[in-house]
Amino acid sequence: MKIFSIETSCDETAMALVDCHGGLEEPRFEVLKSEISSQVELHREYGGVVPGLAKREHIKNLPLIYESILTEDEWKQVDAIAVTVGPGLEPALWTGISFAKEIAEKRNLPLIGANHLEGHLYSPLLTMKENIELPAIGLVVSGGHTILLALESIDKWEKIGETRDDAVGEAFDKVARLIDLPYPGGPEIQREAEKGDPEAVDLPRPMMDTKDYDFSFSGLKTAVLYHVKGKEVTDQLRRDTAASFQAAAIEVLAEKTFKAAWGYRAKSIILAGGVAANKPLREELDKRAKDKNLNFYVSDMKYSTDNAAMIAAAAYINKEKGNEYKIEAQANLNL
Ligand code: KG4
Ligand code: ZN
Repeated sequence: MKIFSIETSCDETAMALVDCHGGLEEPRFEVLKSEISSQVELHREYGGVVPGLAKREHIKNLPLIYESILTEDEWKQVDAIAVTVGPGLEPALWTGISFAKEIAEKRNLPLIGANHLEGHLYSPLLTMKENIELPAIGLVVSGGHTILLALESIDKWEKIGETRDDAVGEAFDKVARLIDLPYPGGPEIQREAEKGDPEAVDLPRPMMDTKDYDFSFSGLKTAVLYHVKGKEVTDQLRRDTAASFQAAAIEVLAEKTFKAAWGYRAKSIILAGGVAANKPLREELDKRAKDKNLNFYVSDMKYSTDNAAMIAAAAYINKEKGNEYKIEAQANLNL
C-alpha cells in the first residue's frame, strides 16, 4: 500500500510517499519520496516557534511541495493520504488537515489521520529490514514530549513514564537561550558541548533515582540559570555549561530507560524523536544496550526530527490495528 503523507504540526512543512507492507506481523517501509521545508531560519529571530507565522508558512509551502513532489503517474499509484492530526500547534495542524482533505477529495482517495508521536515511535522502522525484538522499551524525546513506553507488541504499549514539567528538547532549547545560542538549541548545545568539559559545572540529575519512570527537566534548566546568572557568557562558560547540561540530561534519560528495561524484562530499546538526533545520547544508549545484551533501535538521523515519512508509517500501523483518528486538529493528543 502506497501512502502519501503530510506533516505540519510544528515548524516543518513535510510530505512523503512511502510504500508500506507486511501488516502488524512484519511491518516494512520503503520511503519513495520525502521532502521537508523547514521554517527554522524564520522562527530563529523570535527564539522559538511563533504559531501564527508557522501557519502562514505552511499555507505558502504546502502547494509548492505538492506541485513538485509527485508526477501524475506516481499519483496513480497512491492508495491513501495520511495527515498528522496531533499533537502540535492547532493552527499549524489545521493547515495540513485542510490541505489533505482537499486533495483526498479531488483525487478520490481515503484520508487517514495520524498521531505525530506514533510517527516518532515508528521512525526507526523506516530503515529497518527486521522486526523489533519484543518486549521493548521506547523512549520518545522531542521538543514537546519525553515519554517512556513498555511495548508488548508493535501496536500495544503501556505508557510507564513521562516528564512532569519540561520536555527534554524544550530544556535543550531553553538552556541554549541562557548561553546565547540560537533556536533550536539541541544541535547548538551538542556542537558547543564537544569543546567543553562535562564535569565543569556541578548540575543535578532530577528524579534520576526515584522508583517511578517519570522525568523532570525544569530543575536542571533552573540550575543552569543560577550558574550563569550575572556572569558574562564567555566561550569557555558556554562550552562547559553546554557539555555539563548535556551530560546531565543524557545520564537521566539513560538511567531511567535501562531501569525500565530491567523492570519490564525488555529485549530491546527504541529511541526516537527530535532529541534522538543527539549523537552522544545515541552513543550512550547504544553502549549501555551492548553492555546489557539488548537490541538498540534508533531512527536514522534524517527521520529523527520532524518529517512526513514517519507519518505514513504511523498511519499504516494504526490502520492495520483497526484504529482511526478523527480528522480534526487534536493539539493535545498523546500516546
Ligand atoms: O521531534 P522534533 O523535531 O519536533 C517536535 O515534535 O517537538 O523535536 C525538536 C526538538 C527541539 O527541542 C530540538 O532542540 C531537539 O529536538 N533536537 C536536539 C537535537 N536536534 C534536535 N536536541 C539535542 N540534540 C540534537 N542534536
Ligand atoms: Zn516531532
